[in-house]
Amino acid sequence: MCGIAGCTGDSAAAEHVIESLKRLEYRGYDSAGITLGGTLLRTVKVSGTVDHLKKTLFSGDHRGTRGIAHTRWATCGEPTAENAHPHLSCDGGISVVHNGIVENFSELKDELSASGHVFLSETDSEVIPHLIEHYYDGDPLRSTALALRRLTGTFAVAAVFARHPEVIVCAAGGSPVVIGLDEKRTFVASDVQALSPYTRRIIRLDDGEIALLTPGAAQVYAAADLQPRRKEIVLLPAETVSSGKGGFEHFMLKEIMEQPVCCGNALKDRLDLSRGMVVFPGLGLSVRELSRVSRIVIAGCGSSIHAGLTGAYCFEDLAGIPVSVEQASEFRYRNPVLEPETLVLALSQSGETADTIAAVREARMKGAWVIAVCNVTESTIAREADSVIPLLAGPELSVAATKSFTSQLIVLYLLALYAGRGRRLPQETVLRLLREAGDIPALVRRVLEQAPLIERLAKRYAWADDLFYIGRGNLYPVALEGALKLKEISYAHAEGYHAAELKHGPMALLDEHVPVIALVDPACEAEKICGNIRECRTRKAPVIVFAADGFPPDGPAVRDVVRVPACSRYLLPVVMAVALQLFAYYFARARGCPVDRPRNLAKSVTVE
Ligand code: F6R
Repeated sequence: MCGIAGCTGDSAAAEHVIESLKRLEYRGYDSAGITLGGTLLRTVKVSGTVDHLKKTLFSGDHRGTRGIAHTRWATCGEPTAENAHPHLSCDGGISVVHNGIVENFSELKDELSASGHVFLSETDSEVIPHLIEHYYDGDPLRSTALALRRLTGTFAVAAVFARHPEVIVCAAGGSPVVIGLDEKRTFVASDVQALSPYTRRIIRLDDGEIALLTPGAAQVYAAADLQPRRKEIVLLPAETVSSGKGGFEHFMLKEIMEQPVCCGNALKDRLDLSRGMVVFPGLGLSVRELSRVSRIVIAGCGSSIHAGLTGAYCFEDLAGIPVSVEQASEFRYRNPVLEPETLVLALSQSGETADTIAAVREARMKGAWVIAVCNVTESTIAREADSVIPLLAGPELSVAATKSFTSQLIVLYLLALYAGRGRRLPQETVLRLLREAGDIPALVRRVLEQAPLIERLAKRYAWADDLFYIGRGNLYPVALEGALKLKEISYAHAEGYHAAELKHGPMALLDEHVPVIALVDPACEAEKICGNIRECRTRKAPVIVFAADGFPPDGPAVRDVVRVPACSRYLLPVVMAVALQLFAYYFARARGCPVDRPRNLAKSVTVE
């Protein structure tokens, strides 16, 4: 899970490559490095972020018309400067950046060491420049192809050679590589966002392809036999990335605050109130076809799974379709049974999560129709699925998923109504539910108005190192999501539980030092969760209630209550999620945590 970037043909190569690298930091940010130059390669590597690399690099010589660089999320070897990429061959004449995993690196290292190669890092990636050096016979393309054939695992690589001062060789084998072209310069990167400041003309390498880049040109070959491949140059839409924080202290807060607009985008053009219908242009499945679906499998990771678990309530309740929600990481390893009428929904903000990509491939191989619900429509998952429903949330830069999560909830709700319309939902009911859905942006805005109250509460509890989140019904997955949000950005330990499950073990942990956050829908099993709250209070646990308006006044005595607007039970998860995001944000901020870039994490998890 790392980002690679490169440029040849521009005297400002260092500036460009660093700018591209900044845009790839969502893939990892624990160490970074760059190689610059033509016949003399200079490499600078640091432990820490791209900003740190930039400062170190620009305080010295950063000339050169060619450069490759890397931002890392450590998998093999600690995030030190030695383990940072690029890695060099023994003679220093070949420099390589790598994204992926070399699974057979131990045996390759033994073999190369036996023939005299010396390794300076603990990484798997360092075998690549040494292997290329081993095969080098004057041809950079062939030696790289021969080296890559020896690897098992996944890779995206870019390599430069001191003996070929303008060339970059790059290749894809399970990790994405895009090439950008303009008249005089050629770029390479892990994704198009990194190239968008420079060019809109891109070539996407398919797995098994290798390319020779020179200023203003790229020739692509099959890595297996070096036969040339004809590749289409795609013209990207004009840049849409918002790079600033818009006056907010953190991207996370900005992205939380954007949610009324994002929710509106998720609804826009999909509600046809005049006909009482949901429309999904480009879905490729009609209401009638969807009504024949016998089962839905939802696959994803992290917050996307929580969105899927919430969506399952909608599909079962509104459309009567049985749903199973699968951790994408487990899906392909347990030989899942997919009947021809099974529909698979792959949920992913980034569209690059390795486990979810693997689940999509497995499902398609077994003949299921796969719909990707993705925020990044250029992503691998979006391209490989049979059809795509874009989240339209705009770029999400903070590591913690916020606006993409609520957009996923809305899309799943609309899809359930779409399917329900063809099965058992009368048109009047669909129309009523669609009208209610149209209120979501306003409901979210009302939650955001409570930010000062939620901030006070979060600060009051920021001492807590262990917390429980409990909920029932479709607020149970929201409790899981609330706990995930809190732990990933504040480093406090938080567990989400079904409210009834606490007494099956975890209650042993409760005392006055362990706050419990209870999510209450007064219209749904309210007396049951009130009972659960009393059980926690009896064990002296401080309880914070997040409840929709109407939380019973005769409910348990709780000092801290955040009231969110009452709404349909299908929409309450959206409203509640926003309140919990604010709580997690202010809690982490009060603890002085780097909210947007939590330690050990990356925005896009491209390793299994
Ligand atoms: C949590 C979070 C992660 C992601 C997970 C899946 O805030 O961001 O748990 O939800 O890594 O990522 P996507 O949705 O991009 O597949």
